[in-house]
This record gives sequence, C-alpha cells and structure tokens, in this order.
Amino acid sequence: MGETYTLITGASSGFGRSIAQKLAPSRRLILTGRNAEKLEAVRKTLVTPERHLLWVRDLSTVDRLGEELASFLTGKDIRVEHFIHSAGFTGIQFARAVEMAFVIRVFNVNVFSAMEIIRPLTQKKVNQGTLRSITFISSIATRVGASGYFVYAASKGAVNSMSLSLAVELAPAVRVNAVLPGIIETQMTQEYFTNADFMAFYPLGFGRPEDVADAVEFLSSDRARWITGQEIVVDGGRSVFSPVPSEISAKQAELISKTTDHGCRGQTRS
Ligand SMILES: NC(=O)c1ccc[n+]([C@@H]2O[C@H](COP(=O)([O-])OP(=O)(O)OC[C@H]3O[C@@H](n4cnc5c(N)ncnc54)[C@H](OP(=O)(O)O)[C@@H]3O)[C@@H](O)[C@H]2O)c1
Repeated sequence: MGETYTLITGASSGFGRSIAQKLAPSRRLILTGRNAEKLEAVRKTLVTPERHLLWVRDLSTVDRLGEELASFLTGKDIRVEHFIHSAGFTGIQFARAVEMAFVIRVFNVNVFSAMEIIRPLTQKKVNQGTLRSITFISSIATRVGASGYFVYAASKGAVNSMSLSLAVELAPAVRVNAVLPGIIETQMTQEYFTNADFMAFYPLGFGRPEDVADAVEFLSSDRARWITGQEIVVDGGRSVFSPVPSEISAKQAELISKTTDHGCRGQTRS
C-alpha cells in the first residue's frame, strides 16, 4: 500500500501556502493550484521538498474533476488522509447586476470543487478508507454582512452547511470542520489594507496567515479527535465587535468609571 498524504487546495498562495509550510515537517503533502510555477515555488520553500507532490488543476470548472483526482491517486498508488480546501475565489458584485457566470465560478472554486474532490476521497476503491479529516476554509462573511459580497457569502455559507451534514455522514472515520477567518492580508485582500480605519474593527489587531494555519493544523490532527461539525472563528474578535459612536462610548467610559468606584461594592458574583 502506498504512502498517505494531506491534500491542500489553494496551496500556491496565502493561507494554503502557510498551511503547507506548517504541515510540511510532519506530513507528505499534495499541493494543488492552477499554476505549476507558483506551486513549484511553494514546494521549494518546504522542508524536504522532494517528499511533496503537485497536482495542477484549475477549479473554476469541475467537469471530471473527481475522476482526474482518482486517476492521479491510483496512478501514483497513494492515498489521502487529510483534505484541506483553501482555494477560494471572490469578487464584488451587487444584486442589481449580478452575473450568473460569476456566481458559477465562485461556487465552482469555493464549493463544487470540494464536493468533486471528496467523492473519490470517500470511495474505498480509490482511497481505501484512509481519509480522516476534512477542513474547509470558510469565512466570517457567513457571520457579518458586507455590501457586494452576497455571492461569496452564499458560497461560504454552503461550505458551512455542507460540513455539518458531512460530519454526520462520514463519522466516525472522518471529522469535518470549517475555519472562519476574518480579513487577513493575502493576494485576495490586499486592497483592504490601504484603509487604516479598517484596524478599528479588529479588537486584537490584524491577524496573519499563520493564525489560520495554526487552527487548521490542530483541526486536522489527532488532538482534535473529538471535534467534528464545528465552525472555528479565527478573526481577532471582528465578528463579536460592535462599533459604538464616539459620544456614546464617552458616556459608557464615564459610567464604567463610576461603577468601578461605587457600583460593584457589596455585590456578589455568581
Ligand atoms: N484572506 C482573507 O482575508 C480571507 C478571509 C476569509 C476567508 N478567506 C478564504 O481563505 C481561502 C484562501 O484565501 P487567501 O486569502 O489565502 O487568498 P489567496 O492568497 O488569493 O489564495 C487563494 C488560493 O486559491 C487559488 N485559486 C483561486 N482560484 C482558483 C482556481 N480557479 N483554481 C484553482 N485554484 C484557485 C489561488 O490560486 P492562484 O495562486 O493560482 O491564484 C490561491 O492558491 C479562500 O477560500 C478565501 O475565500 C480569506
């Protein structure tokens, strides 16, 4: 029986690359992306690059995607133990002018490609019951709204819902979870980082791709052996933060200082 691997989509950049760099010392990886040169450049940054494989595939079309993955795995006599879906496509389109070609592209890359990949990974004849975990990179766009992002948010909502049912269907052999990052600077989000006000929405300041990679490493390891069907938010507090107008926050500050001096005395805490 051949070696076992962790398959990472979107490995050429951003979170996927960071996840690959974190996992490379302890695992064999299959790096997936649509650009062979970018993938090769990432492989060269990894510990023992020769241990890791590349599977070049554009995920904006999904026809025969599952069959192609099955041939790749059986042709090399290898199996996949962990699947991490980090590939993602986004863009701004408003409801009044939404184009179905855009919608289909977003859903192909973010959702349908994962379904196609999971089919052979859960087939005994291809993967021989080896799969142990699936980790989706979703988004806090499923928790907070943003104008122009409803298609992207819908695709990530589909990812979250899909992971719940897969968690039940594939248990106990396979655990399925989703990581929901806040906005972190990568190729996808560079434009946001020219706006200094943005930081005000992040109580813990901005995160780094490694913060997402840490959560993914944990979820796809045996340390998370009793965690499945969960959405893990990694967003520096963005989704629990409610901005308050400055005049109200000044009043709040005044109230808090009074409460601290007098209001809490004599109260019992439960
Ligand atoms: N960065 C954020 O703030 C943020 C926040 C929440 C969620 N996310 C999610 O995190 C995941 C990773 O995003 P990122 O920030 O790391 O962005 P990124 O640096 O742009 O990486 C996206 C990855 O997806 C790949 N990809 C895009 N379209 C593809 C296609 N048609 N076929 C195959 N691969 C394709 C890209 O390949 P190429 O290198 O060839 O373009 C790249 O490897 C995505 O699912 C994204 O939705 C990101």
